Amino acid sequence: MQSTTRHHPAQPFWDKVAPNYARKPVADPSAYEAKLARVRALLRPTDDVLEIGCGTGSTAQRLAPVVTRYTATDGSSGMIEIANTKLERDTPTNVTFHRADASDLIDGHPFDAICAFSLLHLVEDLPQVIARAHQQLKPGGLFISKTVCLKEAALPIRAMVRALTALKIAPKITVLNRADLIGHLQDAGFEIEQTTYFGKKRVTPFIVARKAAA
Ligand SMILES: C[S@@+](CC[C@H](N)C(=O)[O-])C[C@H]1O[C@@H](n2cnc3c(N)ncnc32)[C@H](O)[C@@H]1O
Repeated sequence: MQSTTRHHPAQPFWDKVAPNYARKPVADPSAYEAKLARVRALLRPTDDVLEIGCGTGSTAQRLAPVVTRYTATDGSSGMIEIANTKLERDTPTNVTFHRADASDLIDGHPFDAICAFSLLHLVEDLPQVIARAHQQLKPGGLFISKTVCLKEAALPIRAMVRALTALKIAPKITVLNRADLIGHLQDAGFEIEQTTYFGKKRVTPFIVARKAAA
């Protein structure tokens, strides 16, 4: 499906955790529902959407009913295998799941909107992934993301995450703050339309960025 299919270095980590990740309940259900409601309000029924880093596809299942086509990709084949098992059950018929790195060019582009939830802090080359999203959007298209910005977290939390990463219990992450993220998006040519937070924590900004209209 993809013109290029890269394997990212953290794939074995995500393949290993995929079954547990699939079973894990959403940490803050009301914040998650608020995020879904906000994204639905941004999408139109005619939209052709790409989600990168879709994990086991739970968000795809919830968002696909409001758009025409929903292509969901993840770099981990373990995650995609689990997502594909959902196709027989509760997944809307306009969804397809594919293994692809976030920096891959995906067949079907350009898209009306690209979503990246809890992903951008995990990719190896953030500017490249953001540039790829920009390239794969139609003029006026939206890049909708929610990203862990560890620079915004208290020092003990940052120290704990560093320790968990050293022990390989947590994946390697890029330590960002919201301004860093906005800078990367603007450097790629995006205009920032919204930034907000859902739930009490102020470490995972939700950012809506728009590619300039032609
Ligand atoms: C924290 S999970 C988030 C999953 C889902 N978006 C969610 O919000 O529940 C991060 C996901 O990003 C994927 N991932 C990490 N690095 C990636 C990369 N370079 N390309 C594509 N997917 C990647 C992992 O396989 C994992 O499924």
